[in-house]
Amino acid sequence: MNYEGLDKKYIWHPFTHLKYYPKNIVITKAKGIYLYTQDGRKIIDAIGSWWVNVHGHSHPYIAKKIQDQLKVMEHCIFSGFTHLPAIQLAQKLVYLVPVKNAKIFYSDNGSTSVEVAIKMALQYFYNIGEKQKTKIIAFKNAYHGDTFGGMSVAERNVFNLPFKKNLFQTYFIDVPHSKNIDKVKKRVTQLIEKNNVAAFIYEPIIQGAGGMNIYEAKYLDELLAICKKYQVITIADEVFTGFGKTGKLFASEYLKHKPDIICLSKGLTGGFLPLGVTAASNHIFKAFVSDDKTKTFYHGHSFTANPLMCSAAIANIELIEQTNYLQKINTIEQWHKQFVQQIISHPSIKSVRYKGIVLAIEIKTKEKTHYLNQVSEKIADYFLKRDILIRPLGNVMYVVPPTCIKQNEMKKIYDTMKDFLNEIK
Ligand SMILES: Cc1ncc(COP(=O)(O)O)c(C=O)c1O
Repeated sequence: MNYEGLDKKYIWHPFTHLKYYPKNIVITKAKGIYLYTQDGRKIIDAIGSWWVNVHGHSHPYIAKKIQDQLKVMEHCIFSGFTHLPAIQLAQKLVYLVPVKNAKIFYSDNGSTSVEVAIKMALQYFYNIGEKQKTKIIAFKNAYHGDTFGGMSVAERNVFNLPFKKNLFQTYFIDVPHSKNIDKVKKRVTQLIEKNNVAAFIYEPIIQGAGGMNIYEAKYLDELLAICKKYQVITIADEVFTGFGKTGKLFASEYLKHKPDIICLSKGLTGGFLPLGVTAASNHIFKAFVSDDKTKTFYHGHSFTANPLMCSAAIANIELIEQTNYLQKINTIEQWHKQFVQQIISHPSIKSVRYKGIVLAIEIKTKEKTHYLNQVSEKIADYFLKRDILIRPLGNVMYVVPPTCIKQNEMKKIYDTMKDFLNEIK
C-alpha cells in the first residue's frame, strides 16, 4: 500500500515545509528508543517525538494502565461530574508540583495549558477588582505554543509573523545573565511600576523552541523576587522542561522562588496521550470562588480530564516513582558532558550546551543563528540517512532522548554529530 502517497494526498502536517518535505515517512511500530518504518528501517527517536516521550515508546506499564481504564470508561463530561483517574492524578500532582497548595486545571496540550494560565492570571485581577492589570511580561526568544495567547507572549518571529497584528501587546525583556542582570532587573521594575502588569511568563532554565538556550537559575530568581514584591503573578511554562528534562523533576526546583502557576504537558503522560495541566496556587483559585457568577472561569474543552489521558499520566508518575528515573537522566547528562569535552573546540561549533537529557550544538554558519538557517535541512537529512531522527532548530542541532536510551545508542548519535561537524568544516 502506498501510504506515503495517500498521506500526501489527504493530510496537511504541522511545522512542515510542504515543498521541501513532499513525503512523510510511514511509521508502523514504535518501541523503546526506536521508530520502525514501513520499509523496514529502525530509526532512533533522539528527540522523544517532539519532547513528549520520556520512558521509551509503547512502554508496557503505561500501555496496560490505559487498556485497563479503557475497559471501564473512555470519557465523560468534566463539568458537574468527576472521576477517579482525574482525582488520583490531581492528588499526585499537588504533592509533586512546585506550586503552593495547588489546584489542578486540566486541558488538552501544552498550548492550552499556557492559554489557561494566561486567562487565569488576567481574570484573577479582574475578579479582585484590579481590572486595569492586563499586561504581561515575557522573555525575548520565548516560545509558549501556537494558540493566540501563547503566540502573543512569545518572540515575534517566523512562527507567528502572519498574525503579528492580531497578537496582544506583551513587554519583552532580555534573558538574564551575569553581564545584563542589573539592566534587566531595572527594566522589569520600571515596567511593573509604570504599567499595569498582571503576570510574568517564562520557560525556566531552558528556552526550548527558541534554540535550547540554557540560562542560570540565580538570575531568573532575582527577576522572580521583583515580581513577588509587586504581586505580579509568575507563570512557569514547564511544558518542555517538566518531568525531568533538566535533571530535576521540574526546572522550577532549581529556583528559590516558586511560580504561582505552572503549565505542564508533553512528558506528563510519558508521551502516550495529549494532556495539559495548569496548576494554580490556592490564592489565585480563591479569587474565582464567589456569589457573583461573572467571576466564574468560563474555560473548558470537550475532552477536559479525559480518563485515558489521566490514567496514562498516573502510570507515568508511578514509573518515575518506582524507577531510578532522575538517576538515568543524570547518567545521560554525564555522557553529554564527556562528549562536550571532546568536541568543545571544534571549528564548526559556535557554542555547545547541555543540561539533564538536553544537548545542543549551535553550528557556525555564514548565516546567522536562526530557525530558517539553511543548514537545518542538511543536518536532519544527514542524521536520517543514518537512521537517527533529530529536528534541528535552524543551526542548533540538539537531542532530548527518552531515558531508556543505552550508551551505545547515544554513542551512535555523538559519532554522527562529530562526523557531521567534520564534514561541514
Ligand atoms: C515551553 C513550551 N510551551 C508550550 C508548548 C506548546 O505545547 P503543545 O505543542 O503541546 O501545544 C511547547 C511546545 O513545544 C513548549 O515548548
